[in-house]
Amino acid sequence: PSDISDHERIDCHPDSGSTEDSCIKRGCHWCTSSIQDVPWCFAPKTTGYTLVGDVTQTAKGYTATLDRKPTSSWYGHDIARIQMDVEFQTNSRLRIKIFDPSVARFEVPLNISSTSAALDPLYSVEFSNSPAFNIKVKRASNGATLFDTSLGGLVFSEQFLQFATKLNSHNVYGFGEHEHHSLKHDMNWKSWGMYARDQPVTHGANLYGVHPFYMNVETSNLAHGVLVLNSNAQDVTLSPLPSLKYRTIGGILDIYMFLGPSPENVVQQYTQAIGRPVMPPYWALGFHLSRYGYNDIQTLKDTVNRMRAFNIPHDVQHGDIDMMDRRLDFTYDPVNFTGLPQYVRDLKNEGTRWISIQDPCISIGEPAGTYRPFDLGQSMDVWVKESDGVTNAEGRVWPDANVYFPDYSSTSCQSWWKQMSIEFHSTIEYDGMWIDMNEPASFVTGSVKGCYYNQWNNPLYKPRVYGDVLADKTLCGDYLQSFGSHYNTHNLFGWSQSPVTQEAVQEVTGKRSIVLSRSTFPGSGSTSVHWLGDNHSLWSNLHYSIIGSLEFNLFGIPFVGPDICGFGGHTTEEMCQRWMQLGAFYPFSRNHNGLGWREQDPGILGAEVARVSRESLEIRYTILPYMYTLFHHAHIDGSTVMRPLFHEFVTDTATHAIDRQFLLGPAFLVSAVLNEGKTSVSAYIPDARWYDWYTGAEVSNSLRKSWTTLPAPLDFIPLHVRGGYILPTQQPANSTMFSRLNNLGLIVALDDNEEASGDLFWDEGDTKDSFENGEFDTVEYTAVPGILTGITSNLGYAGLFGMEYETVRVMGLAHYLDITDVRVNNQQHNLFTFTSSTGVLDIVNLTLPAHEDFSITWT
Ligand code: NOJ
Repeated sequence: PSDISDHERIDCHPDSGSTEDSCIKRGCHWCTSSIQDVPWCFAPKTTGYTLVGDVTQTAKGYTATLDRKPTSSWYGHDIARIQMDVEFQTNSRLRIKIFDPSVARFEVPLNISSTSAALDPLYSVEFSNSPAFNIKVKRASNGATLFDTSLGGLVFSEQFLQFATKLNSHNVYGFGEHEHHSLKHDMNWKSWGMYARDQPVTHGANLYGVHPFYMNVETSNLAHGVLVLNSNAQDVTLSPLPSLKYRTIGGILDIYMFLGPSPENVVQQYTQAIGRPVMPPYWALGFHLSRYGYNDIQTLKDTVNRMRAFNIPHDVQHGDIDMMDRRLDFTYDPVNFTGLPQYVRDLKNEGTRWISIQDPCISIGEPAGTYRPFDLGQSMDVWVKESDGVTNAEGRVWPDANVYFPDYSSTSCQSWWKQMSIEFHSTIEYDGMWIDMNEPASFVTGSVKGCYYNQWNNPLYKPRVYGDVLADKTLCGDYLQSFGSHYNTHNLFGWSQSPVTQEAVQEVTGKRSIVLSRSTFPGSGSTSVHWLGDNHSLWSNLHYSIIGSLEFNLFGIPFVGPDICGFGGHTTEEMCQRWMQLGAFYPFSRNHNGLGWREQDPGILGAEVARVSRESLEIRYTILPYMYTLFHHAHIDGSTVMRPLFHEFVTDTATHAIDRQFLLGPAFLVSAVLNEGKTSVSAYIPDARWYDWYTGAEVSNSLRKSWTTLPAPLDFIPLHVRGGYILPTQQPANSTMFSRLNNLGLIVALDDNEEASGDLFWDEGDTKDSFENGEFDTVEYTAVPGILTGITSNLGYAGLFGMEYETVRVMGLAHYLDITDVRVNNQQHNLFTFTSSTGVLDIVNLTLPAHEDFSITWT
């Protein structure tokens, strides 16, 4: 039909096996296309729903009753009458909820509500009933259309729900969890399945978590975000109209829009809705070391000793399943890891924390009375059930026996899990918990008995996810948990495990602690942090790790990073050295390795890898006060920590696709070498003054808004500080326990007006709710021409008493012929150097009390 161009097509046969015959039977058009992946079977524009009566106004927006048009949709069982509620939740947040008004369907138990209607919304909505009912959302300030379902294709049937929307531009980011090869999506009819899966990182596969959230940077360079709050198996297709088609097989269509208008505003508004990110303890910002397969305590000790010998910062050591007794949760191996409890205590005294792994699967094979996690769980009846609601679902995971799966949505399970976590602490005094395999993973399909053949285990439409059946590597869809069927709640398994684990670790440690979760969902960031799963020791993975980490910052989980040097495969010295350089600047910096691969801790690959690792990490530790303050802002305001360039320079369209460089906060630019054999890196210089981290020299103004080649010999990572910002620093040490005692410094990077600002958030480091309880100190730094001031605004922790600033570096003074006079609080201070060729003023040997306001002047 001539009214539907190739790129407007909405796939009428997203399941495989489409033929002209089967297509026509669905009441759809059949027409080949020469464009790759364009569907040949597609829906008429008139399909969908039609308005009953009028759209009516409600207290907070509108409501519409919609009836299915006479033709049935492709998989039948259409809900004949549905309702669309449009709620103006806040000025920047709009909700479009499409549901069945007569039968309650599963809704994600994440409450995103608003108390009163938005008075001055950034958006407006329009409805039309032609060619079928559709809705448009426009940006009030410029009239741009942001969401537009007029392409048709709205389906709301029992097990197939779909909408299509035209997008404002091709700049689409997000959807997860996947290995994406570019941060900005490829819009050429690419489909992405979303279903939590235990899956070594593979391009095109649905991975561990599910994040149905995207950001669109509009043609005007304003940004908005969209969440489809749905936890069923689902997929999305991006096409170059530009448009996207979203499909899910259960629940409702619950769409939230966040109007920004800046990319950072979008993330702030999104995390305000789903929950702000946790504030990690200070020590968690240090370097973590891990591997699956130390296999015995001596190997573990040798590894740690190498860290000490090379003086490489090492804040956290992880204990993986090889340290368990036959891989049983809440145990340790008393034979191969004799003395582990004492060793963990020893490490802590030296300043190295411990994180223990636990899996959500409990062995049922231990003799009665010998394995308390099972015995107690059994008596408290904490397990996921089969479809009869009585029989415990039995699968197979690590322990050398079958397992039951805890149902974290049940209160008895929550009490049991807390109890087990608390009791285990009297054996291993862990500081944080790593919860793995919580997709949940199983080594058998569905269960040891398989799954019944029915509509929940074999829905007519299986979204584009890995495996022949949905139960592949996990549980059957018709299994039951307290909060619903596995069909509806599968993607919420890790999400439901995190809060109770966080409660447990906080209770037993009495500290803020940390929960590292493999499976995540919108809202997970408020109780847990994440790593990118089982990646590979391949050069390409350095690049993908930046993309993945930036995406999780978008998803509201800013504390994230990949396994440095790769989980699977043998690394090489060069790769691991480059990866340790890059890895020093992930929000979560952990070198983790898989079973059986070549050792890759930073001390094993030779003195040079060790030196470069130490030096890179020392830079990280130097800027930890800045990074910690960024995390504070993420926790309070919901901003990102690791940030794509376009978040800061959105009007410069050249930044929209940059994903090999990234920023920490607004001001610290990382341009790592990501390729083998390279000793330079092609870097974009965004529109600002930039200073070389090492020398303080200014990047030539003529390079602004252009690509340049930065030299990067093997032992060097290019780093730049942005003019306009002040970064608090601290002298590094081999753990934060010691670095936190060191003197502070300031890096003042002046902008075009010779101004800069910044701040410091400082607290005890791991007290619970320190901000919420006012137990923190803050300092605001401001520079104007010739003057730097620091103003403390809260001293509720008073930890800054006794601390001093020792150094201040001011960058961007090349127009001064000389600087001859430096005064600190009006007193002359003679210990400084000014390098006129670079314009760097280094003030040293200060003894400036950190808890007092101060001023420093230079002329
Ligand atoms: C899978 C996890 O992704 C990996 O990090 C871990 O080492 C293994 N499970 C063993 O626990």
